[in-house]
Amino acid sequence: MKKVHIKSYGCQMNVYDSQRMGDLLVPLGYEAASGPEDADLIILNTCHIREKAAEKVYSELGKLRHLKESRSRAGEAPVIAVAGCVAQAEGEEIVRRAKGVDLVFGPQTYHRLPELLKSRAETGRPVIETEFPAEDKFDHLARTKVKRGVTAFLTVQEGCDKFCTFCVVPYTRGSEFSRPVAQIEAEARALVEAGVREITLLGQNVNAYHGAGLDGETWSLARLITHLSRIDGIERLRFTTSHPRDMSDDLIAAHAENPKLMPYLHLPIQAGSDRILKEMNRGHRSEDYLKLIARIRQARPDIALSGDFIVGFPGETEADFAATLAIVREVFYAGAFSFKYSPRPGTPAAAMAGQVPEEVKSDRLARLQHLLGTQQKAFNEACKGRNMPILLEKPGRHDGQLIGRSPYLQSVYIDAGTHAIGDMVNVTIDAVGSNSLSAHIHP
Ligand code: SAH
Ligand code: SF4
Ligand code: F3S
Repeated sequence: MKKVHIKSYGCQMNVYDSQRMGDLLVPLGYEAASGPEDADLIILNTCHIREKAAEKVYSELGKLRHLKESRSRAGEAPVIAVAGCVAQAEGEEIVRRAKGVDLVFGPQTYHRLPELLKSRAETGRPVIETEFPAEDKFDHLARTKVKRGVTAFLTVQEGCDKFCTFCVVPYTRGSEFSRPVAQIEAEARALVEAGVREITLLGQNVNAYHGAGLDGETWSLARLITHLSRIDGIERLRFTTSHPRDMSDDLIAAHAENPKLMPYLHLPIQAGSDRILKEMNRGHRSEDYLKLIARIRQARPDIALSGDFIVGFPGETEADFAATLAIVREVFYAGAFSFKYSPRPGTPAAAMAGQVPEEVKSDRLARLQHLLGTQQKAFNEACKGRNMPILLEKPGRHDGQLIGRSPYLQSVYIDAGTHAIGDMVNVTIDAVGSNSLSAHIHP
């Protein structure tokens, strides 16, 4: 047996892609290594979204170079591969900057990994593969046979045509593409056979999904969800990430009507100021977003809302930032992610005037995160005493304790008694900590 170590950075889609790479390598005789030290193949599946994310990769590659050198002396040099969005964005630059890298390939070419490995072995030279191929990589990926946990990701849509001025995704993931329903259904059924109970449908713009349906028509995400929720064994469905512009009526209605669709929605607005939203090319105003939230809450009053925010976009004034705080106060998030604007090479915003100083960004981020933290705490506190179904996912800290997820994606610690991972249990929430809840099972 050969051993592979895959490290994922960035978004959930990279986690999914890493698993699929793992699946691809099984027929080549690879099994999971316990770490880079005992791996014959090391893959870094990278993220380019912010500068820090990309820099992490180079620092990791520096460490791996030393590992490779010392293991070379023992005649067992591992193959080092850089996959994902940094690979797509930087290509050959990676082998120039980081010695010891053998393979560089982007998110749209990882299905070619077996050929790339072969070519590397035959030529003895680094192999770089960053074109956007004509074939559909999903047609070339192995059927999922490897055991999964109770929850799994499933990519249904990839790429983005929105071109927000700060964002690299349209360049690294390419243009928007929806997988056909039949292909997705087959993968969902295979996941269920492998033990999965909850599937999160993934896309950079997942609610822009418009795939070939089973009846020759184009299906929306809502229709896909309705279809998948009929599969026996799927208990829960989620989807992420959505764009406010693509939040259609049928998807909102699905939140009201489909009990398998969980009451949680990640719907980034990025900023509260309309002037900044325009500069970001988001295609919505804060008022549109608030109206949308009202309609979603009408359909599903208990829905937990999440979002992404960027502070310190070029030209952002204190008044603009105040508008971000104001929208957060108005929406009330169950949890959200916030970032300092990071200029990305090649994106329009990186060349805009009015770049905001680092200390101003840090100050705004701290204030925003404080507010979001208060809201998250309040959301969790409000769950105390409530009854809810929990899907048990993994072992907890103590013997007999398991960790599950609430419908609202909170981690819940439970003394599970005779219940096992994969069970759905009804609990009452007893206590609320900073990042998790604890609960007891109904007798
Ligand atoms: N496809 C998703 C997420 C894209 S990346 C969407 O459209 O919402 C995840 C988040 O990273 C974004 O929502 C944004 O908040 C943040 N982000 C993207 N580019 C960034 C940049 N240049 N600087 C800081 N944050 C950024
Ligand atoms: Fe990036 Fe905007 Fe596309 Fe999201 S919608 S992936 S933020 S360009
Ligand atoms: Fe990062 Fe690429 Fe995802 S840039 S956030 S890994 S789409």
